[in-house]
Amino acid sequence: MPIKIIMDYALELIFVLKAWRVVVVVIGILGNWKLAIGDNEHAGRKLVDYVPGFISIDCGATKDYLDDVTGISYKSDTGFVDTGTNSNISPEKYDPNPDYGLQTRNLRSFPQGKKNCYTLKPEQGKNSNYLIRPFFYYGNYDNKNILPIFDLYVGVNYIYTVDFNGLDITIFKDMIHVPTSDIIYVCLINTGHGIPFISALELRPLDKSLYPLDLGVLQHSWRFVLGTTTGQQGEYIRYKSDVYDRLWHIYGALSNSIPINTSSVIDIQNNNDSYQLPSEVLRTAVQPSSGYHSLSYSDPPSYDTENWCVCFHFAEIAKLTQGKEREFIISVTGGTYTYTSEPITLDHLKPLSICFNRIFEGHFSFVINATTGSDLPPILNAFEFYYVIPQFNLHKPTNSRDVAAIMDIKQTLRISREDWQADPCVPIEWSGLTCNSDDTPMIISLNLSSSKLTGEIPISLSNLTELQYLDLSYNELTGSIPKFLAQLPNLKTLNLSGNQLNGSVPDGLTQKSRDGSLVFSFGKKPDLCLSVHCTKEKKKPKMELIVALVATSMVVLVLLLFFLCALAIYKRKRRERASKSNFKIKNQQYNYFEAVRITDNFKTIIGEGGVGKVYLGILKDETQVAVKLLSASSKQGYKEFRAEAQLLMIVHHKNLVSLVGYCDEGENKALIYEYMANGNLQQHLSDWGTNTVFDSKAVEREGSEESTYPKLVLSELGF
Ligand SMILES: *[C@@H]1O[C@H](CO)[C@@H](O)[C@H](O)[C@H]1NC(C)=O
Ligand SMILES: *[C@@H]1O[C@H](CO)[C@@H](O)[C@H](O)[C@H]1NC(C)=O
Ligand SMILES: *[C@@H]1O[C@H](CO)[C@@H](O)[C@H](O)[C@H]1NC(C)=O
Repeated sequence: MPIKIIMDYALELIFVLKAWRVVVVVIGILGNWKLAIGDNEHAGRKLVDYVPGFISIDCGATKDYLDDVTGISYKSDTGFVDTGTNSNISPEKYDPNPDYGLQTRNLRSFPQGKKNCYTLKPEQGKNSNYLIRPFFYYGNYDNKNILPIFDLYVGVNYIYTVDFNGLDITIFKDMIHVPTSDIIYVCLINTGHGIPFISALELRPLDKSLYPLDLGVLQHSWRFVLGTTTGQQGEYIRYKSDVYDRLWHIYGALSNSIPINTSSVIDIQNNNDSYQLPSEVLRTAVQPSSGYHSLSYSDPPSYDTENWCVCFHFAEIAKLTQGKEREFIISVTGGTYTYTSEPITLDHLKPLSICFNRIFEGHFSFVINATTGSDLPPILNAFEFYYVIPQFNLHKPTNSRDVAAIMDIKQTLRISREDWQADPCVPIEWSGLTCNSDDTPMIISLNLSSSKLTGEIPISLSNLTELQYLDLSYNELTGSIPKFLAQLPNLKTLNLSGNQLNGSVPDGLTQKSRDGSLVFSFGKKPDLCLSVHCTKEKKKPKMELIVALVATSMVVLVLLLFFLCALAIYKRKRRERASKSNFKIKNQQYNYFEAVRITDNFKTIIGEGGVGKVYLGILKDETQVAVKLLSASSKQGYKEFRAEAQLLMIVHHKNLVSLVGYCDEGENKALIYEYMANGNLQQHLSDWGTNTVFDSKAVEREGSEESTYPKLVLSELGF
């Protein structure tokens, strides 16, 4: 006699599920308690090979073991998580569900830190499709009987809130997603409503063609097997029946439907249906009860869900008589929107999966109707309902270079902070660091002051290019201050004080500190000096001393030589000047014969003026002179002649042509000047006569390198 469970309302279904669990718990407590006691034997057994690609962690377990019921080997969480504490649940709270019971006996809780993460490194790496399934069973492990509420994140993005709604039951909502990095962090976030914990964590690789992944992350809600009413094998069908280890809930029937089944095996292997539903799931189905023509399901009216999608799974399990055909269409309604499929026909014992590659919103319901041409009513073997997290990658992880850098810093300096896990910036910043709010965040400040750090300042800091604030003060850092710190383009504060750093402060830092672009503290350690050379001096003191001595003495020698040379030149110049003036004084008066001889008997006229002609002359020492001979006819000029001669003998001004001497012998009067091999002087000398020369005009010393001298008139000097 087939057992029928006909429910008119889905709400009843949920209730029954919960009621069933209570019954199972009671049965477990009464009858199956041995399972819990006997499990320790498993640990001692030889473990079978882990299923390829599966990651199965029994959180809080002390040993790895093979779960006989599931045939899956579980590992303790050592190596997957660094934080938290292990606890056993209260024995009387043990949930003996044979499909996952063993994994819920113990758990790991995280009383410290806001974010605690498991690190999963699946073999297939990034861009593969994974099913990730955490289990949570409180079981009054802390004897407080208060169910916590906390958030679950995968990577940097929120998946769901773990909320038991007051029921101390096992929650496992798996999610299907394609990670963009090789490492998957599953993080529990303390939201201030109790201490987060986790009982088990599983990862299963899926075929990439499964499920409408382009919609976002799929968070499993229901995965129902229809048409089977026996709970003998447990509540779920999973591995090894399901190669992907999905957990299929043995659901029973839809309203106004009857179960049908076949003992034949559904051929999954030789079929190109990648969903690979277990034969066990597909060999039962429901069809409308007599008097009904369609299969339907509707969420309770209170359920108004945002963003969901649905998959239907079929296999023809009835042996149809020749010529008869089963054809139907599926109509899925989300809120006010209904999507209707193409007509569907099935092959005998061949699976067919239909996923609606679209996001529905609102109240979920579906109807499967036979087409008018169909000889038989519709059937349904199984269906899956998923919440879709469409903008899963809303939050981007921290810049990968920054992540690599901070991970290296963490490792190099052996930083063991509880919260330094997973992404450094998202969703919660690690303690001691802050990040900017860019789409892809970057680290802008790092405070590791008083963190008992040892070793050298790691080079990886140079990759934190957005870093503005770096405080490494009061640690036991050794080695030198690296130059790259000066190259950090945005660094505004650098505190290295209270360390055992030695060597010199790089010039770049001193420079930045001096020009005010960097607030730089390095303490007053005697080992540290501001000079660039001090490191070298420390290393090779003798060599440096010798070099310094040699250099100094050479400099002194050069200076000495220079001084001596300068002195010699000065003395010589002075002697020359002295001799020159001597010459002037001595030779200031020439006789006429001398004038004749100097001018080679007035051979070369270099100018002519009103008062007389100017002749070129050469003194004994080869000095060229200009000899101005006063003509006898110009007697009235005599007084002036004398006046100029006397004046020029006394006054030595740079703007005046020097008078070398004069001749005053009766009628023969001449003035002997320095000769300027320059036409201008000649002109001036020639122009004498036209201007009243002797008393009013000085000879402008043009033609010298100082060409812009002002004209100095003798009268201005008081004459
Ligand atoms: C299959 O159907 C038979 C008879 O209808 C029933 O006895 C049996 O329990 C069913 N099997 C399952 C797995 O539901
Ligand atoms: C840096 O950390 C130290 C020690 O934890 C703390 O005393 C100091 O206030 C921090 N500095 C800033 C700017 O937060
Ligand atoms: C390090 O130096 C900076 C700048 O002088 C200062 O703001 C910071 O508080 C210092 N840190 C500690 C721990 O003294």
